Amino acid sequence: MTQVTNTVRFVLDGQIVEAQGVRRTTTVLDYLREDLQRTGTKEGCAEGDCGACVIMVGELNAAGDAVDYKPVNSCIQLLPALDGKSVKTVESLKKADGTLHPVQSAMVECHGSQCGFCTPGIVMSLTNMVQTNPTPTRKDVADALSGNLCRCTGYIPIIDATLKACSQPASELKVDDQADVPLLKEIRRPQHPTVSLDGDIIVQPVVRTRKGSEFVSPSTIEEVATYLTTFPETQLLAGSTEIGLQVNKQFSRPKHICYLGNVKALATVTEDASAWTIGAAVSLATVEVLIAQAYPDFAEVLRRFGSPPIRSTATLAGNIVNGSPIGDTMPCLLALGASLTLRKGKATRSVMLENFYTGMKQNVLQPSEFVEAVVLPKPSSNQIFRAHKISKRFEQDISATCCAVSFTLNGDRMSGVKVAYNGLAPSPCRAPKIEALLEGKTAVDVSADAIDAAIADSFTARDGLRATWAYRSLVARNLVMQFVEEAAGAAQEA
Ligand SMILES: Cc1cc2nc3c(=O)[nH]c(=O)nc-3n(C[C@H](O)[C@H](O)[C@H](O)COP(=O)(O)OP(=O)(O)OC[C@H]3O[C@@H](n4cnc5c(N)ncnc54)[C@H](O)[C@@H]3O)c2cc1C
Ligand code: FES
Ligand code: FES
Repeated sequence: MTQVTNTVRFVLDGQIVEAQGVRRTTTVLDYLREDLQRTGTKEGCAEGDCGACVIMVGELNAAGDAVDYKPVNSCIQLLPALDGKSVKTVESLKKADGTLHPVQSAMVECHGSQCGFCTPGIVMSLTNMVQTNPTPTRKDVADALSGNLCRCTGYIPIIDATLKACSQPASELKVDDQADVPLLKEIRRPQHPTVSLDGDIIVQPVVRTRKGSEFVSPSTIEEVATYLTTFPETQLLAGSTEIGLQVNKQFSRPKHICYLGNVKALATVTEDASAWTIGAAVSLATVEVLIAQAYPDFAEVLRRFGSPPIRSTATLAGNIVNGSPIGDTMPCLLALGASLTLRKGKATRSVMLENFYTGMKQNVLQPSEFVEAVVLPKPSSNQIFRAHKISKRFEQDISATCCAVSFTLNGDRMSGVKVAYNGLAPSPCRAPKIEALLEGKTAVDVSADAIDAAIADSFTARDGLRATWAYRSLVARNLVMQFVEEAAGAAQEA
């Protein structure tokens, strides 16, 4: 029998908070500000762009003896997804004796705040960073701040303040969370599904309203599959960096929401000699570290994807299924020959990403089917992989065009060429005519005019909000030329 419930439990500064009567789409930010009066956390944009709402969300580590944190844009996270986790807001940082956190003190001493609206979010992004990186470089600090907008102070005093704070011992930079660990164990979400006497899986909701709307947070893939089979209209929720905007800006109120973040098997990467299998709930921040050595250009595309709070929750599967024509991970995944493991009930099938889209934001997913994992091949010998994202701003901006190219160099000839773009077609796609042009050629055989002709022959010229067609097609050609010429140059030097 499905229980009716409406209590979300999370840990806040050594206490369990029981949020009762919340809606399934209440945001973490609204609950913190309106119900808990934690008004230090600000609302600027309500769409993940400005960072005024950044908090730290913690989960027990694998050993169960400490808390792992990530920075999160609380404006686009749904409160029921917090069930079983812990939260630190800017109010959490001051000690009982009134002492500020070293990052806060240094912000005062280095004049890192003027109007102060951005300051709590900035302090939380920085405090999160120093939990795992107590000796950051200037670049590390700038990266950590790439999702925090400050319109009056300027970033130099803020970066100086962070480096000053980090002259203290690492132990001083840690947030106080010893009291949270036992409480997190107490409210830990079940790790196994509830099963009826007949052996059927029952997915218990976190939130269930009298009208039957539900937010569920299962722990196994079987529960997800069962729930989707029962309610095919279910909105799957992974990192919430698309859905949070739909809730805030389009007032979307899905009747059934199924959160994937507590499914351990989906939050895991497995590997064999030839590929990584990246579960659908693995964050982009984890993928960035995973592929950094094998595919540095892909890692750089990810470093410029949104901001640390966006990447800490956003997923590859969410990016792929959302299917934006300018989605950033797809060109890299397409050029690397990635495939998707799709699941419906107990049945799984493998679909190459290049066969996934059927039109603008349209794909081959059937009702009740979902992405279980993304399978990313590992590099082969002599494989060259290059990718670059062109956007108006370096950070926290989506592509005008992103191009990714993969090929093997045999001597100076290219083979197995794959070229993929976003921004040129209704969905990210490969460019077979350009691939055919490069296959078997050396860099000197490749002319700009021939690539221009292949681009004109492959895509429909269309000006967009982010760039004109003239700009996009020029960039699309130049990136391929650059990758091919640089690879040839590097091979000659070797
Ligand atoms: C401030 C900001 C900056 C951004 N910057 C970028 C950027 O630089 N580049 C870029 O490409 N995008 C960007 N995005 C868009 C967004 O972050 C990405 O599309 C992200 O990868 C979505 O993943 P998610 O896990 O958050 O998806 P969610 O919001 O949780 O879900 C998105 C969609 O995918 C579906 N879905 C999720 N998981 C599955 C699954 N396993 N199976 C089937 N369906 C599923 C959901 O039902 C939903 O329809 C940005 C967004 C914001 C708010
Ligand atoms: S309020 Fe701007 S990122 Fe959340
Ligand atoms: S101090 Fe005013 S926006 Fe940063």
